[in-house]
Amino acid sequence: MSALAELCGEIAACRDCELARYRTKVVPGEGAEEADLLFIGEAPGWHEDQQGRPFVGPAGQFLDQLLALIGLRREEVYIANVIKCRPPQNRDPLPAEIQACRKWLDRQVEIIRPKMIITLGRYSLAQYLPGESIGKIHGKPRKEGGIIYYPMYHPAAALHQGSLRRTIEDDMLRIPQLLSKGEELPQGAGDAQQLSLF
Ligand code: URA
Repeated sequence: MSALAELCGEIAACRDCELARYRTKVVPGEGAEEADLLFIGEAPGWHEDQQGRPFVGPAGQFLDQLLALIGLRREEVYIANVIKCRPPQNRDPLPAEIQACRKWLDRQVEIIRPKMIITLGRYSLAQYLPGESIGKIHGKPRKEGGIIYYPMYHPAAALHQGSLRRTIEDDMLRIPQLLSKGEELPQGAGDAQQLSLF
């Protein structure tokens, strides 16, 4: 069994926070074990909780369309969430739940070793670039420790606010170039001028 499959098994058995009492299925994540791109959402919703798979509801359909824009299928990337179990009534995850789940995300990153981590929405952003606001930083890459962190709005944001659709699509369309020029991207945030080259 691969290291990632073993890890998914461990995640599926986790009872480290209260959410274990409410879930139907754990949603560890899925995709290519050697993915260059790791997309990280917030938490499973109703559909995900039923199926044990990430992003399979309406936001997931939009994520699939976004991936298609850059010629990718979900099997070619890895898709995970900050927390692996659905909060009751889709409420926001609590700090203690996020903290209890963080170890799983860290181990996923260690095993997959992605070139780019694409944060989807503010919870995921806060894990990697704390204190930043999604409205200001979306679409701006930052390289730290050899990984490019790339914040995007959550796909569900476009379902609630149609005007964001184009912004999300534009941010997605920059990913292939960032990936291919990743080596040249300076460590840290760089300045706006430098980043606009990418
Ligand atoms: N929203 C998320 O953040 N993750 C999912 O898996 C589904 C919807």
